[in-house]
Amino acid sequence: MKNQRILVISSANIDFVQRMRRIPYAGETVVENDMGYSYVPGGKGANSAVTFARLGADCVFTCKLGRDSNAKRLLSIYRNEGIDVRYIEDPEVPTGLASILVEENGKNRIIVYPGANMTMTAADIEAPFTCYPDALYMQLEIPDEAILEAAKRAHESNIPVFIDAGPARLDFPLKELGRIEIFSPNESETRIFTGIAPTSEETCLRAAIRLSTLVDAKYIVIKRGDRGSFIYDGREYYMIPAETVEAVDTTAAGDVFTAAMVYVYLQNGNIVSAVKYATCAAAISVTRAGASSSIPTRAEVIAYARSKKKAESGEAAEDSANTEGGDEEMNEI
Ligand code: RIB
Repeated sequence: MKNQRILVISSANIDFVQRMRRIPYAGETVVENDMGYSYVPGGKGANSAVTFARLGADCVFTCKLGRDSNAKRLLSIYRNEGIDVRYIEDPEVPTGLASILVEENGKNRIIVYPGANMTMTAADIEAPFTCYPDALYMQLEIPDEAILEAAKRAHESNIPVFIDAGPARLDFPLKELGRIEIFSPNESETRIFTGIAPTSEETCLRAAIRLSTLVDAKYIVIKRGDRGSFIYDGREYYMIPAETVEAVDTTAAGDVFTAAMVYVYLQNGNIVSAVKYATCAAAISVTRAGASSSIPTRAEVIAYARSKKKAESGEAAEDSANTEGGDEEMNEI
């Protein structure tokens, strides 16, 4: 099967991560000497681009970095991952930075200074489309004009558009995106767009129906973290359970999930198997610290899925899994 070329037009940040037993109250100073801090690669777009690359996709990533040491570091990381960076530009605005507080239970709070990400314009979208992509993948962490222009060009080129709906903004003109193949918000993004918190089967369905009046999507996939995910195709819905894992850091789990889902969906067109694969990939990522640094490789996802399958069927897990194959392994999941 042809390895599809996925064009990611989105954001990149350096993440400043501090771990803590609990976040401080307003006005409180908390001293956390033992938990440490780090500067790691992040940004919703970059996290997804790295996911595509580690799963084996042909990924072209377009974003804006600054002219600073963070940009140099990020660019070299993307190159080492095998991501095509030829369209990445560097305006005279600092590289985006996210301040991330991670609590002991792995839950995070994120504040983003978008910096260079906000300099992407509609005019920047022409060049990346000359790479002849097979699919377009975006989030909402860059200016609307760039997102809408990219969606328009994708429709003109007759390629599918995939949207991870983070971060949600009520004023984002969803209808102007045109036809979307998969639209995927998390729980809080779903609540922002619909006013409905998707906490139960019934509220997930109501929220998905409401979303389908706001955006023209073939599939709506609501990511619900450790409560699993909800797929809606306009007629039927499916609830896919989460994996049970010990969460260390949930940062980027949604980015990993959406990209992994899109990667498999592009290969087999089967939304349920794509979501199951994505669930395994996201589960691995939450057991590791950081954003891009937590993303599993294809071999790791397949090995995880195989040992899960064996555990479920009561067989002993093999010592090593052959992870070089193709479609059969997707089907296994
Ligand atoms: O989704 C996680 C990402 O959101 C972080 O890596 C941070 O940079 C923000 O963009």
